Amino acid sequence: MTIDRKERAMDQQKLKELVQDMSLIEKINQLLQVTSGFFIDDVELTGPIRENGITEQSIAQAGSVIGLLGAKKYKEIQDAYIKNHPHNIPLLIMLDVINGFRTIFPIPLAQGATFEPELSKRCAQIAAKESAVSGVHVTFAPMVDLVRDARWGRVMESTGEDTKLNSDFAIAMVEGFQGTNVGEEYSIAACVKHFAAYGAPNGGRDYNTVELSENTLRGYYLPAYEAAVKAGVEMVMTSFNTLNGIPSTGNQWLNRNVLRDEMGFDGVLISDWAAIEELQYHGYAKDRKEAAGLAMNAGVDIDMMTGIYSKNLESLIEDGTVKEELLDEAVLRILNLKNKLGLFENPYKDADEEKEKEIILCEEHRKVSLEAAEKSFVLLKNDGILPLKKREKIALIGPFVSEKEIYGVWSMLGRPEDTVSIAEAADKVRMDYEFTFAKGCNILGAEDSNLIPDQHVQEPSKEDEERMLQEAVEAAKNADKIILAIGEHRRMSGESASRSDLTLPKIQYKLLDAIYEVNPNIAVIIFTGRPLDLREVSEKSKAILNVWLPGTEGGTAILNTLINKVSPSGKLPMSFPYCVGQVPVHYNEYFTGRPYDPKTGGKEYRSNYRDIPNTPLYPFGYGLSYAKFQYDDIKLSKDIMSIGETIDAYVTVKNVGEYAGTETVQLYIRDCIGSVVRPRKELKGYQKVTLQPGEAKNVTFEITEEMLRFCKDDLSFGSEKGEFHVYLGTDSSTEEYVSFNLN
Ligand code: BGC
Repeated sequence: MTIDRKERAMDQQKLKELVQDMSLIEKINQLLQVTSGFFIDDVELTGPIRENGITEQSIAQAGSVIGLLGAKKYKEIQDAYIKNHPHNIPLLIMLDVINGFRTIFPIPLAQGATFEPELSKRCAQIAAKESAVSGVHVTFAPMVDLVRDARWGRVMESTGEDTKLNSDFAIAMVEGFQGTNVGEEYSIAACVKHFAAYGAPNGGRDYNTVELSENTLRGYYLPAYEAAVKAGVEMVMTSFNTLNGIPSTGNQWLNRNVLRDEMGFDGVLISDWAAIEELQYHGYAKDRKEAAGLAMNAGVDIDMMTGIYSKNLESLIEDGTVKEELLDEAVLRILNLKNKLGLFENPYKDADEEKEKEIILCEEHRKVSLEAAEKSFVLLKNDGILPLKKREKIALIGPFVSEKEIYGVWSMLGRPEDTVSIAEAADKVRMDYEFTFAKGCNILGAEDSNLIPDQHVQEPSKEDEERMLQEAVEAAKNADKIILAIGEHRRMSGESASRSDLTLPKIQYKLLDAIYEVNPNIAVIIFTGRPLDLREVSEKSKAILNVWLPGTEGGTAILNTLINKVSPSGKLPMSFPYCVGQVPVHYNEYFTGRPYDPKTGGKEYRSNYRDIPNTPLYPFGYGLSYAKFQYDDIKLSKDIMSIGETIDAYVTVKNVGEYAGTETVQLYIRDCIGSVVRPRKELKGYQKVTLQPGEAKNVTFEITEEMLRFCKDDLSFGSEKGEFHVYLGTDSSTEEYVSFNLN
């Protein structure tokens, strides 16, 4: 049978007719998502899979697939699928393309540190292009969950603790993946996740219960999802957690009233992996059938991976638990997406073997990866040891010096052979610096074996461990400066990677101690997927450069920063706690009735700890540069704002240091008195300025009444008259302010 593609172009009417023409089973199968393994590897339909409702027929007609096929295989599978499908409907391919496809960018948390959403938009465009030519139509990104607890391993997939920053990045990433419409060349559909509030699990333990007041939910957690919806995101994914007692995947109020009716989302809602089935384990559904009915009635269109809809929807419709119109609506949404992607008339879309070779990992893409990495690094401390100076004797020590797996766990296609290590980058400038190298230790030692599940890392013998340490000590003794590259193993953050402790693997402290004893001129490079407790590292080092998990061009970006080809400019998108006992910690907390004063520290009968400060070791928005910035002349254009008016806030930023650098000037506002208490301050704007030594620039922010709105007790958003403090500074701890009144 040949299918006339021109004839296949669809409009709403045709799509509706198509749904009407489909059999019940065909429609139900559109809601099933299976892994690509079923198509490539000829997965055997063994007992449990059959019991789950996945049959040859449901696979042959499954509406979508999760996994990568590659252009060639994809075309073969798409051809066969369409040919065999009773209505020749095309298949949809989805994949987790989080921070890059094959060209890997810094993890999302690191991208948050750039305070440059436009750059993430470019990264997403590239990721979309590389995915599209490989036959991918939808990515399960961006994750916009607000995060305040560094114990949660998935903070690495978020852009941090701030509502505005998360919303800005959500919009940029959706626009980057989708372009102006998903049908255009090299665009793929985005899927914002995980709806809702997955980033607030109790105790930072993955998949755990979430309890949030509706005011906090709406005021802080929901805006980033809504921003993605308003930016036209095509898909939304439910979250695994319960939210105030109801699992998100079965929550009608959340998915129908809030997401669809209030936010206006009309795209496809997919469950997270097996989340419909999990309604049983939450104790919310008595069996799989009830779970399927709850999810369907809550508006979940696609069942990721369980066959629970395939097995139960027919009888749920027969017995009236689920109305067939609901199924039709879900099918129509899925077909609509396929149509928007242009798959009816061009089922290959952008899949192209030649373009795969030409585009994937090309120089242009690597350059953007380098730029993103350089801009994401956060200089946490520098007692003048950085940047390195030519002719200095530098010992490059640590398990990350030659490490090439320096990308996050969600970089499915990231490959060590594509990645530049610090050692390789150093090799290129060895004429100017005297480098020596020593590994010192593995990332994990024998005592750290619980930190990743199935440790693939070969444990060295006691003798080898001792030899590595001694080599490092010798290298340190003979060096002017030491660059010590240490951190979390890449598999220590990500899904199911919660930790109760935020320090480094034990073996790495042994290395730090041994080196510190012979030469304290240490600059530490930290690789991490989450904020860490860096107290000890800070005590024993003269500089700390946090490089997260930087991706394909990580080593080059680090070297460029060390030698001041670029000055660090990243700012923390998430507070680095003083210690784990302080989390969740975030800058925009409430005062309490017995406020803590950062200037005086803890006092009796105040809201503070006896043994640690309230303030994190490094606060949100914090990050140094080789340049030194001075803020002067903070002022406002007027001190009264009436509704409909705006106020300009000005500040002069001068570079009083000896190196050029880029500063992210941050605007925070405090609403002094509110009918619902207001945070200490909230980020309302940020701008980057690049300054040569001695140069000064004026920076202006416009303050609008809209910026002053918040979620009130009746859950409406609005501003309230009264006094506001305006802070313009280098990070969230800035104390200086000017005030105005809203009339
Ligand atoms: C994760 C999602 C992801 C999905 C598909 C789940 O375990 O929670 O974020 O998109 O798997 O890979």
